[in-house]
Amino acid sequence: MEQLPAISARDVHKSYGSLKAVDGISFEVHVGEVYSFLGPNGAGKTTTVEMLEGIRKPDSGSIAVFGEMPWVSASKLRGRVGIMPQDFRFIERITPREAIKYYCTLFGVPDKSAELLDLVDLSEVQNVYFQNLSGGQKQKVGICLALVNEPELVFLDEPTTGLDPKARRKIWDLIRKLKEEGRTVILTTHYLEEAQMLADRVAIMDHGKIIIEGSPSDIIKKMGKGRKLVLRYSDTLYKHLADELKLECSRSGENINVSVNSNQDVLNVLEFANQNNIELTSLSLKEDTLEDIFVDLITEQEEAQ
Ligand SMILES: Nc1ncnc2c1ncn2[C@@H]1O[C@H](COP(=O)(O)OP(=O)(O)OP(=O)(O)O)[C@@H](O)[C@H]1O
Ligand SMILES: [Mg+2]
Repeated sequence: MEQLPAISARDVHKSYGSLKAVDGISFEVHVGEVYSFLGPNGAGKTTTVEMLEGIRKPDSGSIAVFGEMPWVSASKLRGRVGIMPQDFRFIERITPREAIKYYCTLFGVPDKSAELLDLVDLSEVQNVYFQNLSGGQKQKVGICLALVNEPELVFLDEPTTGLDPKARRKIWDLIRKLKEEGRTVILTTHYLEEAQMLADRVAIMDHGKIIIEGSPSDIIKKMGKGRKLVLRYSDTLYKHLADELKLECSRSGENINVSVNSNQDVLNVLEFANQNNIELTSLSLKEDTLEDIFVDLITEQEEAQ
């Protein structure tokens, strides 16, 4: 028997007054997947996630989380789902250790504050009031609270925004661990390299719609503009590459981007530079990243408005 998807959403709409925050989206998330919502500010990511969490009710369309309507079966789903909201806020005069212990009591599980605090490097500030924690530390408390009940499905809405580089890496490891344990993770992020690295599939949203969905590598394959050779700019080099080798070139600041379709194209460029005594001071071969594609897609959407 085929396994029920963790989440199934069909033609979901949600408006705030005349603003269509979510405008007819459909998607499925499989059990054990890391599924990432990407998109510019105001695209509708948090509204979508909040409907999946049962915090908001859609105007129309259907959502099933483990086969249940989340805003109807909230109490049934509570034990299976963990939520870290965007801009996590909490009681001011409670310490991280107390907060986690309190949640453990609510969920009826043994105190696991020491383990969770260690997991996100919060042990040092475990006895500091929430109001006195730094922004990143507050966020980490939110992540711990989302994991108290060992959820099968975890919602992380921008978990790494504002975290220092080392802390971000720690959260990436944590997300990888959640996946290894077979949990399903919904990850909202503005860091495209994070999604490219961690997500099995991503949905890029804009103006309430999903404009593309798929695995990062499939999206790059489908939408990418192929390989580019990046060289330090010089007038002579640019002219010759474009006029004589007939390669598609563009200038980007200090560099020339040359579209190359084969290894032979690369060799031709190098040979040309060698024969003409052009010193190559910097050279790299680059493929479009998910971020390059994201920027192009969103720019196209804006131009079409
Ligand atoms: N409670 C609300 N009342 C009115 N408008 C709202 C409300 N919540 C969200 N919106 C609007 O709905 C749109 C989508 O907001 P949402 O928070 O879902 O975007 P987002 O993709 O999560 O953005 P961000 O990347 O900035 O977090 C925005 O234009 C926002 O102003
Ligand atoms: Mg948001």
